[in-house]
Amino acid sequence: MKILITGSAGFIGFHAAQEFLRRGWDVAGLDNFNDYYSVQLKRARAAQLPFCLYENDICDLNALQFIFAEETPDVVLHLAAQPGVRYSITHPFVYQKTNIEGFLNVLECCRHAPKVPKLVFASSSSVYGGNKKMPFEESDQVDTPISLYAATKKANELMAHTYSHLYKMQTIGLRFFTVYGPWYRPDMALSLFADAMLHDRPIKVFNHGDMLRDFTYVDDIVDGMRTDFRSTTSSTSGTTAARS
Ligand SMILES: NC(=O)c1ccc[n+]([C@@H]2O[C@H](COP(=O)([O-])OP(=O)(O)OC[C@H]3O[C@@H](n4cnc5c(N)ncnc54)[C@H](O)[C@@H]3O)[C@@H](O)[C@H]2O)c1
Repeated sequence: MKILITGSAGFIGFHAAQEFLRRGWDVAGLDNFNDYYSVQLKRARAAQLPFCLYENDICDLNALQFIFAEETPDVVLHLAAQPGVRYSITHPFVYQKTNIEGFLNVLECCRHAPKVPKLVFASSSSVYGGNKKMPFEESDQVDTPISLYAATKKANELMAHTYSHLYKMQTIGLRFFTVYGPWYRPDMALSLFADAMLHDRPIKVFNHGDMLRDFTYVDDIVDGMRTDFRSTTSSTSGTTAARS
């Protein structure tokens, strides 16, 4: 089986790539190595991955079409996105570009591929937004995103559903709940806490510390991805929530 992983130099993409290699899959990657956080960290991850990694942007449709033609993947694991809830307040257009336009490019490339691949993509627990009912469930309505980031992830789910309906593509959205583990993203809470502790600074806590949050270990996320690949032969569209 051949898998194309977008965002393969990213935190989750790196772990997913390693796991699929271990399982004997043929893996190719794509990443634009943007500077949202340390490019050095992304390069260090990529240096561990012994496969063809295209340095391209998913917003470049021509490049994406070329990669799809070269690789003819059975599965596309689409993880490349602009992540981060807070950053979407200050940089809204990056989200529109990468998470909406880039996502549409991926859908179009899948649709027009001679062998239409299964598309598994990263959604987010943030789509549950203002929902009050706990615990969250996949069947809950998710119509109240409270950040632009969440709105783009919800939009991805809708776009994938449309393509599944129109073109009988198999698509699966995975709603990750704050993922942590080795090679972690430096912009996320546990990294920021650890960094503050190492440098003897107080940790920054929002909402006066009055919050609860689910964290998911990255190996469990990767495990969930494998399960989804196996379990989708009959359905055309779906969403799965990974919970800690
Ligand atoms: N980490 C989490 O807790 C979490 C939670 C919910 C959802 N997600 C989603 O999971 C996916 C992976 O998250 P992550 O934590 O590994 O993030 P990450 O930022 O470490 O990885 C994303 C990778 O995509 C690349 N990328 C970004 N824009 C691109 C573009 N236009 N073209 C090509 N490559 C591009 C980045 O360079 C990066 O290496 C994202 O879609 C994110 O929204 C993550």
